Amino acid sequence: MEKVDNDPDILTDIQEIYSYKWKWSEYFWNENPLVLEIGTGMGNFFGKLVSEHPDKNFIGIEIRYKRLFQTAEKARRAMQFALSPLGGKLDRGSFVMIKDFGQNIDQIFSEGEISESYIFFPDPWGKKERQRKHRIMQELFLEKLYNITKKWGKVFFKTDHREYFDTSFEIIKTQWLWKIEQKIHDYQNSEVFDMWNITEFEGFYRGEKTEINYMELVKSP
Ligand SMILES: C[S@@+](CC[C@H](N)C(=O)[O-])C[C@H]1O[C@@H](n2cnc3c(N)ncnc32)[C@H](O)[C@@H]1O
Repeated sequence: MEKVDNDPDILTDIQEIYSYKWKWSEYFWNENPLVLEIGTGMGNFFGKLVSEHPDKNFIGIEIRYKRLFQTAEKARRAMQFALSPLGGKLDRGSFVMIKDFGQNIDQIFSEGEISESYIFFPDPWGKKERQRKHRIMQELFLEKLYNITKKWGKVFFKTDHREYFDTSFEIIKTQWLWKIEQKIHDYQNSEVFDMWNITEFEGFYRGEKTEINYMELVKSP
């Protein structure tokens, strides 16, 4: 907790976090596109994104202290190897970690502020109805996500949990908000599979028979 509280790349004060709504470009000192990952876990994927796209700003949302710190450390390390768009080393952070629930995105971002979002292997919670209310992929959240996404912005969703995937798909379909660009059940054997950008969780399943489900959504106006 202490490490997280003293980390300059992690925001924990809710009032401060919400004060940046509409003002993330001021936080980053530039107008680069904002990319969001919800539930960064240990941060492999987040770190890779940061290192590969110095022309974008990244925001990771995570609720666990240890994972917030691990992700920030990986992103900092990744930045040491990243080049700025002008060719020099990156001299300041193009990322920030936020300690909050992903469900609060409407408090953190304003309409159309986000270009891309990644939600990879969110906790599916238990089988019981009362536990499922903790799931992130629910109607209200998806509506909020739609609102904060800019026109033609994208959302990438992966899960190994088939029932969670199918339920999310049903919600998305009946909302009539998103254009579903990809819906794949056997992601690892599909054309869009990206071996070089897998998350820790995804790594557990390499070589196993578990199917990974993948969806790509677009906000088509
Ligand atoms: C199963 S792990 C997957 C982590 C990573 N995305 C991966 O694929 O390796 C789910 C992560 O989401 C975080 N998490 C769970 N509920 C959350 C919420 N409501 N908002 C933000 N993060 C959440 C957990 O702490 C955990 O790190």
